[in-house]
Amino acid sequence: MEDFNVLEAELVSAIEAATDLVDLDAARTAALGRKGRLTALMRGLGELAADERKKRAVVLNALKDRLTQAVDARRVVLDTDAINARLATEMIDVTLPVTYETKGRIHPVSHVIDEVIAIFADMGFAVAEGPDIEDDFHNFSALNIPLEHPARQMHDTFYFPENTDGERKLLRTHTSPVQIRHMQSTEPPHRIIVPGRTYRCDSDQTHTPMFHQVEGLMVDTETHMGHLKGCLYEFARAFFDINDLPVRFRPSYFPFTEPSAEMDIGCSRSSGELIVGEGENWLEILGCGMVNPRVLKAVGLDPAVYQGFAFGMGIDRLAMLKYGIPDLRAFFDSDLRWLKHFGFVPLDVPSLAEGLTL
Ligand code: DAH
Repeated sequence: MEDFNVLEAELVSAIEAATDLVDLDAARTAALGRKGRLTALMRGLGELAADERKKRAVVLNALKDRLTQAVDARRVVLDTDAINARLATEMIDVTLPVTYETKGRIHPVSHVIDEVIAIFADMGFAVAEGPDIEDDFHNFSALNIPLEHPARQMHDTFYFPENTDGERKLLRTHTSPVQIRHMQSTEPPHRIIVPGRTYRCDSDQTHTPMFHQVEGLMVDTETHMGHLKGCLYEFARAFFDINDLPVRFRPSYFPFTEPSAEMDIGCSRSSGELIVGEGENWLEILGCGMVNPRVLKAVGLDPAVYQGFAFGMGIDRLAMLKYGIPDLRAFFDSDLRWLKHFGFVPLDVPSLAEGLTL
């Protein structure tokens, strides 16, 4: 019978000589492709006598297997070479000491948002976000603030001009509408915090037309005021890094919570300087309460099954308090000297394990 050794040697050497995947594919096609040399031989089998055909088929099939193996083996070699070449050029020496950025700084608002996220993430809260441009339903009516409610006036809302179907969009006056969006789009239990920008038509030393809030929402089947208090105690103590920080809850009113409260932390103002954590004075830092059953109903949850708590706080004010920043308006002046002084080094990412602020 005809000997295919020469052919095999030729085809295998072409395969082994391939220096990249394109080359290899050409060598494979030359042997095993539709117009390949082995394929042609296989096609010729039909012209042989039955006996001869069987014998030759065995030989050719074995040859085909060996060629396929040779291609596969070469591909592994080429792949490995490619990875090694890439590793060699992209090598990073992770043992080099970190060089701190000398110029860029993280804005105190971004930094405080990261701190708040680190604390609540540790308690199992996820971060949610919503749009800055809102509609009346999400910003007001679903939160139990109907049209003639006095709370609407208190919000000093920025409205957009009426659009063609008579609707007036607005810039959200708080992060609370994200509670509604989140409850509408996902199934309970809910456990989220929502950092974001908020807007009110107001400007003086302690108010800017754009400011920042963090909203919190927890809804489940057995959520009660004890959870709310525990959670916020934990937050305040972790945020100010004072273990015995005095904290109290004062009854208050918000349309979207019932009962509602404001949380104060202990501070002193004696020498004209505000010090958090000691003294006889109290300072309000957030609003909170149990989610009003009307809000749960507005998003289709049954208040007989689900209860929840919510809270909201001003980030800018928290940043001023924690880092002794006197004037809120400077936050948004983009003064690089200010940012250099009050900003944070980018690599100081807040985490509970490492301590919030280095
Ligand atoms: N949305 C309120 C505000 O902007 C803050 C707030 C208070 C949010 C109580 C809440 C809450 O979720 O329960 O003044």
